[in-house]
Amino acid sequence: MVQFTRSFFSLCLIAASFAAPAKRTVAQVEADIANISNQVGALDNAIKGLPDSGLVGALAIPTEMELLGTSLNTGTSDMKATGLLDETDATTILSAVKVIVPIINAALQHLTAQASNLVNNLLGLAEIRASVDSALQKLQNSTDTFVATLAAAAPVDLTAEAISIQIAIDAAFNETIAALSEIPVRL
Ligand SMILES: *[C@@H]1O[C@H](CO)[C@@H](O)[C@H](O)[C@H]1NC(C)=O
Ligand SMILES: *[C@@H]1O[C@H](CO)[C@@H](O)[C@H](O)[C@H]1NC(C)=O
Ligand SMILES: *[C@@H]1O[C@H](CO)[C@@H](O)[C@H](O)[C@H]1NC(C)=O
Repeated sequence: MVQFTRSFFSLCLIAASFAAPAKRTVAQVEADIANISNQVGALDNAIKGLPDSGLVGALAIPTEMELLGTSLNTGTSDMKATGLLDETDATTILSAVKVIVPIINAALQHLTAQASNLVNNLLGLAEIRASVDSALQKLQNSTDTFVATLAAAAPVDLTAEAISIQIAIDAAFNETIAALSEIPVRL
């Protein structure tokens, strides 16, 4: 309940920030989501490539997270610029989001699985750990904001579903962040 209240509060803030300088279209948001989807795939591949991909592969992970964050942020600003969505458009976008969120979740699960592979764990190298941690937290924020923006733009009958997606993916980020924090850090 506390969670819902907090999310609702942030939705109000986001709703209050809807000021459309240039009106965007639903098609633009869908194109953004296609881009997000490609980028999630690239991140997931980079994660699954460990540990064989070595140091270069490990260093690519925060970079891929940042690229994904950038595509999510683009989706967020285009959605804000599109304004309030009608039932049909909101349903279309929500359906597309329901396809990509499980892929983000799968990438997080793969990262959690890497965290439990403690032998020669490159994610334990201090520098990589710091940049993965920071990129992961930014990505959590970008993902949260993207889904919260959709919840705020959608008609009220779709709000609860969007918020539940937001809470679930937020929880998945928290689990991965917690799993990474358990890898011993090496210099
Ligand atoms: C997708 O992302 C890439 C890289 O950020 C960008 O160059 C491209 O314009 C984007 N495509 C769309 C359809 O927004
Ligand atoms: C997410 O990022 C935005 C913009 O950088 C920032 O204003 C906001 O406080 C961040 N939210 C959280 C929960 O970190
Ligand atoms: C994720 O962790 C943050 C920081 O501890 C917390 O504020 C938030 O409520 C957590 N999210 C969920 C869904 O548990």
